[in-house]
Amino acid sequence: MKCVLLGATRGCGLETLLNLHRAGHECYLLARNSTAAAETLSAQGVPANSPLLHIIQGDAFEAGDVRRLFTAAGEVDSVMFSLGTLPPPSS
Ligand SMILES: NC(=O)c1ccc[n+]([C@@H]2O[C@H](COP(=O)([O-])OP(=O)(O)OC[C@H]3O[C@@H](n4cnc5c(N)ncnc54)[C@H](OP(=O)(O)O)[C@@H]3O)[C@@H](O)[C@H]2O)c1
Repeated sequence: MKCVLLGATRGCGLETLLNLHRAGHECYLLARNSTAAAETLSAQGVPANSPLLHIIQGDAFEAGDVRRLFTAAGEVDSVMFSLGTLPPPSS
């Protein structure tokens, strides 16, 4: 299955991504800080070079970023939207 995830660098979205990846599903993740996202996922056993993982840098409130995410993913089977309200960890 090919999945798009928004809000999966922390919290319940991250847990969902980890379970999807573990089950062999391809994940396209939008992340405001792609470097931090890659480090988080790597620490959880998902290397940034996993063929099942695609991290797209961007903000869910920027239409152009969301368009790039879905263009990169192409036709998808599921979309998970799990945005929180906290600022990015780096700010
Ligand atoms: N946790 C719970 O027990 C629980 C229970 C019921 C419902 N919910 C709901 O589930 C949702 C997520 O909750 P959570 O506790 O898992 O949240 P969280 O830990 O705060 O995580 C929020 C996620 O949203 C991302 N995000 C926020 N604004 C973004 C933006 N503009 N562009 C891209 N990514 C953005 C964050 O990315 P960054 O790393 O860049 O900040 C992070 O990955 C919320 O709507 C919450 O109300 C949560």
